[in-house]
Amino acid sequence: SPSDPDLVERARAAKEKLGDKVFVLGHHYQRDEVIQFADVTGDSFKLARDAAARPQAEYIVFCGVHFMAESADILTGDEQKVVLPDLAAGCSMADMATAEQVAECWDVLTEAGVAEQVVPVSYMNSSADIKAFTGKHGGTICTSSNARRALDWAFEQGEKVLFLPDQHLGRNTAVRDMGMSLEDCVVYNPHKPNGGLTAEELRGAKMILWRGHCSVHGRFNLDSVNDVRERIPGVNVLVHPECTHEVVSAADYVGSTEYIIRTLEAAPAGSKWAIGTELNLVRRLANRFASEDKQVVFLDKTVCFCSTMNRIDLPHLVWTLESLAEGNLVNRIEVDKETEAFAKLALERMLALP
Ligand code: 13P
Ligand code: SF4
Repeated sequence: SPSDPDLVERARAAKEKLGDKVFVLGHHYQRDEVIQFADVTGDSFKLARDAAARPQAEYIVFCGVHFMAESADILTGDEQKVVLPDLAAGCSMADMATAEQVAECWDVLTEAGVAEQVVPVSYMNSSADIKAFTGKHGGTICTSSNARRALDWAFEQGEKVLFLPDQHLGRNTAVRDMGMSLEDCVVYNPHKPNGGLTAEELRGAKMILWRGHCSVHGRFNLDSVNDVRERIPGVNVLVHPECTHEVVSAADYVGSTEYIIRTLEAAPAGSKWAIGTELNLVRRLANRFASEDKQVVFLDKTVCFCSTMNRIDLPHLVWTLESLAEGNLVNRIEVDKETEAFAKLALERMLALP
């Protein structure tokens, strides 16, 4: 829907008043009405790297979800304040791994006698607590654009990986990109005693996958792929690695949101693409590439927004920018010092990956 012109003008005026004091970051899944005010857009990796790019900005307004704002706070100086325009913009996947559950999992691994061999690799889409756990136990963070490199690194440090919280990204990277077999992977269910696994199963596994998933990408299935191939002959199916293994296996191309954009930029005129990721991004790409004669459609027939990403809308952005312009620091995201130190260790290991 088109943005309210009055709100657009208020956002513009508040941003202008703030000038260099504010730096607005926007994830690719944000609404058009919000993304138009982003100084930088990107996937999770790019935004983590770019968060520290404007040390002179007092406020970093993060148009994305809570774990991204936490990561930006961890990676920037104390004088820079990270602000999330709606505090209810969480991530259901990140919520699937709590600090208590992960500590309990580590006890299970210790009792099975495998903990010394295990290197944790945590997806960016996790709380600062989980990132701190990862740093404390010698592990690294990864995003969908460097999961392969993170796993290669982890298997140089140890024999097994505990991958959390997205089982699909873990499995897809291990099996599709690294040639492991499905039998090398076991799934740890935090809601079952001992994760639902025997000590023998843990000893036999190379990848211990946390039982988490993204509800948005979980909506795509094999039928979505088969239907679109039937509807649009010659279509290229391009999906995000948070999709299930079945969907990823049936797709032609797999990668992060930034990869999806680059792939479409490089595609020849006349080509056809079905995209399996969040709908704000797919709609924006469909509009953008229509003029270049590239057909871009959403992979599924049903609508599939990320409801928490969508919480950041123009009214919340206007309220945030106007508050900051009046000197009111609202919705600050601040990770406590001890958590920050260990989480930073894990994030810096990711940033140092080759
Ligand atoms: P990327 O932007 O890293 O591809 O991540 C997608 C996602 O689900 C972010 O929440
Ligand atoms: Fe979380 Fe999925 Fe939304 Fe990304 S798209 S923020 S993983 S729920």
